[in-house]
Amino acid sequence: MPKLAIYPGSFDPVTNGHVDIIVRALKIFDHIIVCILNNPAKQALFSVDERMAMLHASLKGINSIEIATYDGLLVDYAVQRKAHAILRGMRAVSDFEYEFQMALMNRRLNRDIQTVFLMTGLRWIFTSSSIIKEAARFGGNINGMVPKIVHKKLKEKFSAYRP
Ligand code: PNS
Repeated sequence: MPKLAIYPGSFDPVTNGHVDIIVRALKIFDHIIVCILNNPAKQALFSVDERMAMLHASLKGINSIEIATYDGLLVDYAVQRKAHAILRGMRAVSDFEYEFQMALMNRRLNRDIQTVFLMTGLRWIFTSSSIIKEAARFGGNINGMVPKIVHKKLKEKFSAYRP
């Protein structure tokens, strides 16, 4: 039976770190559903449609993936899609507490769904959508940290705010 994982996140926007995790995970899983979910703790910069479009463009040419969005509990979506695992990327130790809490809550909500963590490539250890957005907002150079389409969209988004 093909092994299916759900890779959930805000993807606001997708970064090269996310792409790195997807490529690594495809060595373990047969199919990955990259799913945009709502994180109530975050105020999104891009709409869900914009994030979907950036994911499609950034992951073009990578086989065995699907891009989706779901408005609800991650574990419910995992059951609906008959996923074998939830996939999350781990960067530095600072990610650990948040990821641990989320994985354990998801396990409490549904004991049958396992969370699998993959270490991100060293190049991406300090990158996150939030820090990249902050740098881009103030005109910082984010070359090579995000796919080209995301770079363009960030520039467009923030050019409106610049004096
Ligand atoms: O990229 P992020 O913001 O770290 O991703 C977090 C996300 C979206 C995966 C998480 O907030 C989530 O799963 N949201 C959906 C609601 C849910 O199931 N929450 C977890 C258990 S309370």
